Amino acid sequence: MNDFVTVNEVGPRDGLQSQGKTLSIEERLSMINRLLASGVRSIEVGSFVSPKAVPQMAGTGELFTQLAMTDSVAYSALVPNLRGYELARAAGVKSIAVVLSATETMNQRNINMSLEQSVAVCSALLQRAREDGIEGRAYVAVAFECPFEGLTPVAVVESLTARMFEAGARKVIIADTIGAANPKSVRDVLSRLVGLDAASMLSCHFHDTRGMALANVLAALDLGVREFDSSIGGLGGCPFSPGATGNLATEDLVLMLDSMGLRSGIEPLALIDTIQHVQALTGVPLGGHSFRWLQRQADKQQGGAHV
Ligand code: COA
Ligand code: ZN
Repeated sequence: MNDFVTVNEVGPRDGLQSQGKTLSIEERLSMINRLLASGVRSIEVGSFVSPKAVPQMAGTGELFTQLAMTDSVAYSALVPNLRGYELARAAGVKSIAVVLSATETMNQRNINMSLEQSVAVCSALLQRAREDGIEGRAYVAVAFECPFEGLTPVAVVESLTARMFEAGARKVIIADTIGAANPKSVRDVLSRLVGLDAASMLSCHFHDTRGMALANVLAALDLGVREFDSSIGGLGGCPFSPGATGNLATEDLVLMLDSMGLRSGIEPLALIDTIQHVQALTGVPLGGHSFRWLQRQADKQQGGAHV
């Protein structure tokens, strides 16, 4: 069994895009630099979307030019349309994620396109990325349930995933945008997809809205998935999905993987400072299920323990 699991940090994008407070470029950069210092090696830095739609993500191009560039870190950005793609390419982005929602209404609300338009745009962007030597990945959003249309049929997710692979996606990210999945629905969806292509080409993006994100990770691990999105301290939500709360917290994911003997390259206790830093930047209380326990372990190590 492959015991390495990629933890893709989406806090700087999915986490920050829904915050009441818009961080400056310097603050976003300081968040990313703290994540790097904690050992995180895969980061979704931001999105190239309309600043009118999501002001929190304005200036992502400038942010990219200020990132510490090293081969050991994989930076990516979310791109909804050709305009965003061109801006990302100009900023030197090497990995993009296009965003396709599995239902008609969610595509309309999120990117003002029909489902078919969205498939066509995503396919064209993936094709362009391939020609330009840029890695192309595709989100299939609301893959389990849509806040507007209810349960998403598994066959739809299967067919959209296949179309994204056909268009050249190196990875398809199955996203539970509103945190409505459960381990059974994860098994139902993923067991259909692992047959389409290797599980190594799938990633999962769970929100912890109903407290089931880790259970969902376990179901996906059992089916061979080895890449997950998470956000530091559980920061997050989605401005276009009523009811979506934070992503699976990075510290919860990393601690569970570590406890199970799976490697992510990230030391759980090293995340504490970063959580506190992001809490100070955003002004919102953060921390996943394991945060207090991790803090106690860190206190004990430093000898100043309250047990
Ligand atoms: N980056 C920056 N600006 C963009 C842009 C992009 N990728 N795409 C469009 N714009 C600008 C246009 O130039 C135009 O600006 P103007 O009003 O100053 O002329 C304006 O946005 C509207 O452009 P239009 O092509 O008509 O887009 P739209 O109004 O149909 O909106 C999206 C489509 C995709 C740009 C918009 O819905 C969006 O950015 N959504 C963000 C979705 C998101 O981030 N969701 C969360 C992550 S899944
Ligand atoms: Zn999300």
